[in-house]
Amino acid sequence: MNPVFTRRSIRRFEERPVEPEKIEQILRAAMAAPSAGNQQPWEFYVVTDKEKILKLSKSHKYAGCAAGAPAVIVPCFRTKNLVFPMYDQIDLSIATQNILLEIVNQGLGGVWLGIAPIEERMRCVDEIIGIEEGLRSFALVPLGYPAEEKPPADRFEPERIHYL
Ligand SMILES: Cc1cc2nc3c(=O)[nH]c(=O)nc-3n(C[C@H](O)[C@H](O)[C@H](O)COP(=O)(O)O)c2cc1C
Repeated sequence: MNPVFTRRSIRRFEERPVEPEKIEQILRAAMAAPSAGNQQPWEFYVVTDKEKILKLSKSHKYAGCAAGAPAVIVPCFRTKNLVFPMYDQIDLSIATQNILLEIVNQGLGGVWLGIAPIEERMRCVDEIIGIEEGLRSFALVPLGYPAEEKPPADRFEPERIHYL
């Protein structure tokens, strides 16, 4: 079934590491995203260092589940030389959704943990990953082989559609 309909937030993971080829494929999906003026404002940090993952899991009170993940992807956005800087976080949202969908395609599970636009969280994550000058962190995506199962969520509500 299409991962758009089966994807759920997975917050519990097996300990086994994720193969680097799978991570690469997930990041290929991220970079396939559309962006304003095709500006592709993204960069990605892939964190597998246990100590850093633990620190990321403490970056805010809803990030705890990252602690058990074998890897955390940190999508980031450039802050300089953008054609449409006002769209940078929107572009990153699409790339991050592509990450979540390709995670499912790869037989893995993951969850979006919000960082941007909350400045305090961004500063904390930027510092933990030692982010490069000119970049800001956007989100945390802990991922791994799922240690929990969730049924697809049907959120279709026809009354929210307004045909004109
Ligand atoms: C922008 C954004 C921020 C989120 N932040 C968190 C978070 O900080 N912690 C968390 O556990 N889940 C977070 N989530 C996941 C949502 O809680 C989850 O997507 C929502 O409850 C729907 O559940 P589902 O993903 O299983 O369909 C976030 C999702 C989005 C899109």
